[in-house]
Amino acid sequence: MADATHILKASPVIPVVTIDDPRRAVPVARALADGGVRIIELTLRTDSALDSLKLIAEEVPDILLGAGTVLTPGQADAAVAAGAQFLVSPGVTPALLGHMLTLDLPVLPGVATVGEIMALLEQGLQAMKFFPAGPAGGPDYVAAIGAPVPQVTFCPTGGISLASAPEYLKLANVSCVGGSWLTPRGAIENGNWQFITELAQQAAALAVAP
Ligand code: 3PG
Repeated sequence: MADATHILKASPVIPVVTIDDPRRAVPVARALADGGVRIIELTLRTDSALDSLKLIAEEVPDILLGAGTVLTPGQADAAVAAGAQFLVSPGVTPALLGHMLTLDLPVLPGVATVGEIMALLEQGLQAMKFFPAGPAGGPDYVAAIGAPVPQVTFCPTGGISLASAPEYLKLANVSCVGGSWLTPRGAIENGNWQFITELAQQAAALAVAP
């Protein structure tokens, strides 16, 4: 099942999490879950990201765990081996998409143009990350895309905050948004888990259009 439409319904916000020190991975995941957010997109942007992924997969099983910033087929394989339950990429290439579609798990590829959306529709995908949402056109752009391709559900990500999230979440073609604001690097470094839990509580309480 490659389509990730059901993944987008797990939470109003998918936290985009970057962790340098794997020892912080489990406490971050628990802090988010304590706040009611039980899904993570853990980016593969650090050398130790796969170690963090593995630790969360093993020790926080109630989290729906995705790997983000998947750029190559090899990274996709490594993320799955480490325990990723879904894969997110900022954009797609034929090689990456073709490989991800051979894996038996949901994939959430990134798009920013109608042509890219049409290419994913041709592959049977109807759930997509819209990235980078703010710079690419914001809520007005996402709403306008809904006219020609209303069957597509988006997770806009990039430049979104607690304040701007409702502008996206009220759109009929948006099920959730993504953002790194729930897990600020400083809070992770300082072990400020309570702060992350509070940010998660605020995010979990956001309303999504029916
Ligand atoms: C991503 O990869 O989805 C983005 O880096 C998240 O964007 P943000 O940091 O602006 O929330």
